[in-house]
Amino acid sequence: MVELLEAMSDRGHEQVVFGADAETGLRVIVAVHSTALGPALGGVRFWSYDSEEAALLDALRLSEAMTLKAAVAGLDQGGGKAVVLVDDPLQPRSDDFLLALGRVIHELGGRYLASEDVGATQRDMDVIARVTPWVTGVDPDRGGSGSPSPMTAFGVSRAMRAVARELDGPGTLLAGKRVVIQGAGSVGSVLARLLVGEGARVAVADVDRIRVEALVAELGVDALDVHEVLEAECDVFAPCALGPVFDRSTVERLRCRAICGAANNQLADESLDGELARRGIVYAPDFVVNAGGIINVAGEFTGYSHAAARERTAGIEATTAAVFARSRRDRIPPDAAARRLARERIARDGVGRRWQPGDPTAWTHGAPLTTLRPARVVAD
Ligand code: NAI
Repeated sequence: MVELLEAMSDRGHEQVVFGADAETGLRVIVAVHSTALGPALGGVRFWSYDSEEAALLDALRLSEAMTLKAAVAGLDQGGGKAVVLVDDPLQPRSDDFLLALGRVIHELGGRYLASEDVGATQRDMDVIARVTPWVTGVDPDRGGSGSPSPMTAFGVSRAMRAVARELDGPGTLLAGKRVVIQGAGSVGSVLARLLVGEGARVAVADVDRIRVEALVAELGVDALDVHEVLEAECDVFAPCALGPVFDRSTVERLRCRAICGAANNQLADESLDGELARRGIVYAPDFVVNAGGIINVAGEFTGYSHAAARERTAGIEATTAAVFARSRRDRIPPDAAARRLARERIARDGVGRRWQPGDPTAWTHGAPLTTLRPARVVAD
């Protein structure tokens, strides 16, 4: 069994909350990694874990990644994650189950702000919102920001522009670049559309053949077998499926020049970015590239504006370029450079203590955060 407090202090976690409700069968772990920059925002993941230990480790890992992601994206928020242990993530949850979950979230008083993650739906968020204001991703008619996936895909496409310049010098465009997308889901399919729009030569692979065939018919992209993607020769490999993609053996098989995709936690461990650099592969860190989703959600705090979220997400291009520049300057691989940038921002802008419920925040221009969505929704 993992030494919990040891694991928390190793990675700098502030708080882990275990919640259970015998009546509905709820079992949840909420990990608050850091609130130095603001309340900890992070997804609720419904997943069937092999053990409680596996769920706990996932919560610790994912919440830390959220802290880094928010810090690099320039957002005034920390990182958290809730993992809910369920037998079948695809099975809809009862209202009572979700309300029990909402009460656990509510008891954190806004130190943790819930959003959608793997397995979660907008309906889940809407039910949770009945018992707590500390939840995002609710119905757009109620001030929610809707699905984050198109914004995430837009951010990835912008990061890829920076990758193209890193590969072939200033002025290089995505036009003509060969991009292989692994996973043609909510993010991957939109990314394929955006890249085709920029003139890239795109190939897609998905375990769901129907999704691939739909994109082939719509965009004229190439279809690849899921077992071929790692070895596919291309300029950019874009992981947009689930789970870690790169370990020691998969890195050896790669024949891409760069990696830039939406999937979270792509590297099985931190040392792999050194392996990628050794092989001459440019790695755009996942938590820099895929921040469009949380940038979109963060817009809910001040009144959601699609145009404002899009403008901020476009900034991922400059942030990715800054990560590569820092990597060169400090002679460290890009993932390590991005972590360094995130930690420097926290040291610079962090309030030096934990965020307390009711603390004034930057989103609300110094007023205490009492609710997430103002009554008036900003129209574009
Ligand atoms: P999704 O569930 O809509 O799509 C994932 C796709 O990957 C599915 O079509 C699935 O069939 C396919 N897939 C699964 N295993 C595969 C394999 N071994 N090979 C090829 N295809 C496979 O998920 P979504 O929302 O598109 O997210 C994609 C990734 O991006 C996930 O890792 C997610 O955590 C990450 N992400 C998503 C964000 C969002 O806004 N949706 C935000 C930040 C990260």
